Amino acid sequence: MAEKKIIAVIGATGAQGGGLVHAILNDPDAPYSVRAVTRNPQSDKGKELARLGAKVVAADLDDQESLKQAFTGAHGAYCVTNYWEHFSPEKELAQAANLAQAAKDAGVQHVIWSTLEDTRKWVRLDDNRMPTLMEKYKVPHFDAKGEANHLFTRSGAPTTFLLTSFYWDNLIHFGMGPKKGPDGKLAITLPMDDKKLPGIAAGDIGGCAYGIFKKGGRYIGKTVGIAGGHLTGRQMADALTKALGQEVGYNAVTPEVYRSFGFPGADDLGNMFQFKRDFNAYFCSARDLDVSRALYPSLQTFEQWLDRNKGRIALE
Ligand SMILES: NC(=O)c1ccc[n+]([C@@H]2O[C@H](COP(=O)([O-])OP(=O)(O)OC[C@H]3O[C@@H](n4cnc5c(N)ncnc54)[C@H](OP(=O)(O)O)[C@@H]3O)[C@@H](O)[C@H]2O)c1
Repeated sequence: MAEKKIIAVIGATGAQGGGLVHAILNDPDAPYSVRAVTRNPQSDKGKELARLGAKVVAADLDDQESLKQAFTGAHGAYCVTNYWEHFSPEKELAQAANLAQAAKDAGVQHVIWSTLEDTRKWVRLDDNRMPTLMEKYKVPHFDAKGEANHLFTRSGAPTTFLLTSFYWDNLIHFGMGPKKGPDGKLAITLPMDDKKLPGIAAGDIGGCAYGIFKKGGRYIGKTVGIAGGHLTGRQMADALTKALGQEVGYNAVTPEVYRSFGFPGADDLGNMFQFKRDFNAYFCSARDLDVSRALYPSLQTFEQWLDRNKGRIALE
């Protein structure tokens, strides 16, 4: 039997990387083995990945040498950063630089960089339709990832740029689930008007990444956008109504109102939704559903995701 090629997975204990780990481990014909990267192999999640068959190794995104060790001998590397742990675009850029250089130095043959648009290419900093944040960003958690693309290109690491989508899991974990308004009725709140929001089951991102690795070099140097569905707020509310058996409305606020909600990152997310709303045709077309499903035939629709996860959505 041919020896399996190693895929090193950053964020293996998280949503994106975890999805890739499971996609590989659940495929009995996988030509790959998994090297799961975490800061703490002894955590419950680290131990669970080892029990499932992954080799679990320690590395830190802030430590380039540790990443190089984690990547050495690997054929592929899945690279993701977690903006929401520190809320710092500069830190995210530095971590991306570490990933790119470590992958290059370790001789990795295929890197997937989990990225998003640098929205400043569409909305210049002097464009006042949305506020500039932290002095040089419009959507900090997007812009830093998009700006980091060139770090991968410049390093010479053979990279696929993976444009991800809004996690439907945000309805469970990110405080975006249906909430009761003053009228006592449940509603989801999004500043998207009647525009479509590309979304995906977070775990399916890893499934699509696995599909990209399996295509060999075909996607190296290319940008691939993925989504499991493009739905308006109204369509999401209707699907929630059906799945939950309770009326859920769609509260279409303005981005200005959303930015004023005051929770950490509300201004960043308000600008993000406004970008998705104002450049909707581009944003949806960059995340083609057929391409996504071809990469990962088990890709869930919103209805399928809801069917499996409706019991986890808190109705506040
Ligand atoms: N929520 C959304 O709708 C959405 C949509 C598209 C993109 N995103 C992006 O997704 C990213 C987060 O990915 P996720 O959801 O998969 O994360 P997650 O589930 O929150 O898990 C974070 C992962 O990152 C790892 N990590 C964080 N800091 C690290 C460090 N210094 N060194 C090594 N590993 C580190 C953690 O590993 P250990 O703790 O085990 O070390 C963990 O596996 C964010 O940047 C966000 O902008 C989110």
